[in-house]
Amino acid sequence: MTSEEFNLFRTLIYDTCGIDFQQDKSFLLENRLRKRMQHCGISSYIKYYYYLTGGLTGSQELITLVDSITINETNFFRNRPQFDLLETFVLPELILKKKQEGEKRLRIWSAGCSSGQEPYSIAITLLETIPFIDLWDIKILASDISLTILEVAQTGRYLETQLRGLEQEHQDKYFLKNSNGEYFINERVKKLVAFDYHNLKHDNGLRGFDIIFCRNVMIYFDQTGCINLVNRFANSLLLGGYLFIGHAETLKGLSTRFKMVCQNKGIAYRKET
Ligand SMILES: C[S@@+](CC[C@H](N)C(=O)[O-])C[C@H]1O[C@@H](n2cnc3c(N)ncnc32)[C@H](O)[C@@H]1O
Repeated sequence: MTSEEFNLFRTLIYDTCGIDFQQDKSFLLENRLRKRMQHCGISSYIKYYYYLTGGLTGSQELITLVDSITINETNFFRNRPQFDLLETFVLPELILKKKQEGEKRLRIWSAGCSSGQEPYSIAITLLETIPFIDLWDIKILASDISLTILEVAQTGRYLETQLRGLEQEHQDKYFLKNSNGEYFINERVKKLVAFDYHNLKHDNGLRGFDIIFCRNVMIYFDQTGCINLVNRFANSLLLGGYLFIGHAETLKGLSTRFKMVCQNKGIAYRKET
């Protein structure tokens, strides 16, 4: 692939989903492009580019291409100190506030949820933390740009190797193992979570969230993309709501609408304005 061709695809992918491919990742992009081109029976990069950018079948192929370039690495209770912060600080504060306001309603969004370990970990934390949870109106929206990974997430079916990060107690309590050695998350956890396709490059128009998790997604975005994304999250959150980002990510230089809350290495950001 020539550098002109690389730049064409880099811009197309950036404009479509915000993922910014640096030149040093060109081999990865080239590899995925070749697979898709082979599948479509197209042998030249330029022809494939024009196919992607023209007509309905092209835009469907673009969704598939973007799906194929996503990196879906995740695990249960990833960055445990953040879940401790959620359990011991964020949820107690929000629950108290809601009770004072006479409203037993919680809305949480796991944005870039991958194969579901993150939203299911949030759901387990809620089940473990909120007394008489059945009296609450709770919904966790779990979204991703990859339709393939959303299908996996929705099944709630995991291999033993994918249970990494899960305590034995939670495994026994919330999973059922079948004779093939697969683990199924139980209905109590599952019914708290609703999966949906959403591209974080755009505003989904949803408002009124108490908590947003968007972890290890911004690392693939450039500075401008991150600023816009964080601003959209601030608009989607209620005042006093919390944003959780990845441990290698920061809000520094991105937004002044949040205040950092830190406890035992667990970090979250409270929406102040
Ligand atoms: C590395 S995974 C992180 C999963 C989980 N949040 C965690 O921290 O374990 C990043 C996820 O973000 C999704 N993603 C990347 N760009 C996106 C976009 N523009 N809109 C929605 N999801 C996106 C990918 O498909 C992938 O599943």
